[in-house]
Amino acid sequence: MHTVYLNGDYAPRSSAKISIFDRGLLFSDAVYEVISVIDGRLIDMDRHITRLERSLGELSINAFADWAAISQNLIAENGLQEGLVYLQVSRGVMDEREYRWPAPETAPTIFAFAQERTLLENPMALRGMRIITRPDLRWQRCDIKTTQLLYASLMKMEAVAAGVDDVWMTRDDMVTEGTSQNAHIINRDGVLISHQLDRRILPGVTRIEMLTQAEAMGLTVEQRAFSVDEAKNAAEAFISSSTLLVMPVVEIDGHSIGDGQPGKRTRKIRQNYIAAVQGDHSKKP
Ligand code: PDD
Repeated sequence: MHTVYLNGDYAPRSSAKISIFDRGLLFSDAVYEVISVIDGRLIDMDRHITRLERSLGELSINAFADWAAISQNLIAENGLQEGLVYLQVSRGVMDEREYRWPAPETAPTIFAFAQERTLLENPMALRGMRIITRPDLRWQRCDIKTTQLLYASLMKMEAVAAGVDDVWMTRDDMVTEGTSQNAHIINRDGVLISHQLDRRILPGVTRIEMLTQAEAMGLTVEQRAFSVDEAKNAAEAFISSSTLLVMPVVEIDGHSIGDGQPGKRTRKIRQNYIAAVQGDHSKKP
């Protein structure tokens, strides 16, 4: 993936340079999107743009660009078939390090790149993820997709140290979300439970289509927080994200979920989710 985008130009990755006075670098004063690419096409781009514009609005960052065109050009320039496009927007460059924002007319820094990744044939879908739980010590505006990802990154390393795949974070023993995924369970009554949209979680783009597919399968959906105990006693557990799509969870804190294999309904939701996003594309030119 050789060609990247920076502030209006497409350039080789080695020549794209950003100032050390960029607020994204010094204050994580930046928002981002990760959009999956399947069969060379962007998945759910309209919803990603809506969320990006909301994140920008919440932080009063003035940035306008043709996000879809930038992403499509990167796919074409790099010949990407399957993987992701990463888009980042920061408030821009200051004259010197200063907490207060620069003048509102300061140009934002906008960059994007493409990355190859196996999404459809991910072997993890067959074995399922093993996760551990840890306290959610992030700030209280997790609904904004900022680049403040240090805590998520620390938690990923806790998972590595524990020999598992990821971490689900908890506030007052209630699961909020995964380090970079939304968390869901299906209880023994067949009810799909997914944290309500509030400031504790990121409103996942994948989650929207996943819930549509689950409801179409006849599952009842409850949008509310669930406890770690409820998750351990669930029939099935899974996550959703642009990079893992819908992915089964088979173990939480060493406790097997269901029979310890990816759940039947979770596998079906993954299958239907993939069919829906691929089908949606086949309708477009
Ligand atoms: N992360 N929750 C968090 C904290 C996330 O970082 C993400 C996505 C999600 C799922 O959102 P979506 O379905 O829109 O991808 C939930 C991306 C993939 C990342 O940071 O790489």
